[in-house]
Amino acid sequence: MAALEGFLVASFLLSCLTSTSYGVSFSSLQKTIVVSASHQQGKVLKAGEDKITVAWSYNNSFPAGTDSAYKTVKLKLCYAPISQQDRAWRKTEDNLEKDKTCLHNIASRPYSHSNNNISWTVERDVPTATYFIRVYAYNSADEEVAYGQNTDAHKTTNLFQVEAVSGRHASLDIASVCFSAFSVVSLIGFFSLEKRKAKSSQQK
Ligand SMILES: *[C@@H]1O[C@H](CO)[C@@H](O)[C@H](O)[C@H]1NC(C)=O
Ligand SMILES: *[C@@H]1O[C@H](CO)[C@@H](O)[C@H](O)[C@H]1NC(C)=O
Repeated sequence: MAALEGFLVASFLLSCLTSTSYGVSFSSLQKTIVVSASHQQGKVLKAGEDKITVAWSYNNSFPAGTDSAYKTVKLKLCYAPISQQDRAWRKTEDNLEKDKTCLHNIASRPYSHSNNNISWTVERDVPTATYFIRVYAYNSADEEVAYGQNTDAHKTTNLFQVEAVSGRHASLDIASVCFSAFSVVSLIGFFSLEKRKAKSSQQK
């Protein structure tokens, strides 16, 4: 009996251990990628409308070949500290599996040494907040191996603000949803009326 219990406890512990998979720590990554983001200075970007251009390349101050294992990059939109305050769901954690600083993906690309850039329209589901951009480099096992960001280590410089889809757009969306719901209901109403008419004319 005790042996069985022991076995169950052991297998439970084992399953816990294997399910908490090991995540790469942010502090272990080298900052070998130079990232810049350009948009109209001081302008608040409107989600769903405004564009931001992100450029990135390898920092050649690092020895050549440091990037030989880099296979892909992912560009991410990340919350600045001011937009993380009192919001546990955006908390920064050193373990990248748990980190919630960069919840929005911008793009993924194969890794290339230099002259990379994309122009990205801020997606409609991006909430109002202050952001910066981070680029992670991944190896062939899809683990983070390096990064770069368009801000300093304290995340205070070159931040930009996004304003969520405005009330006008939201109410338009609601209006169109209501309108299509209304059309479905009236269509059903129309058919049942026709059916009833047909029935009553048969009964005559
Ligand atoms: C490139 O890396 C060096 C060494 O870490 C650093 O001093 C320099 O500021 C970096 N260059 C850019 C443009 O970020
Ligand atoms: C932007 O990307 C294009 C290729 O897609 C490249 O020719 C150009 O040099 C890049 N510009 C910068 C500033 O990196």
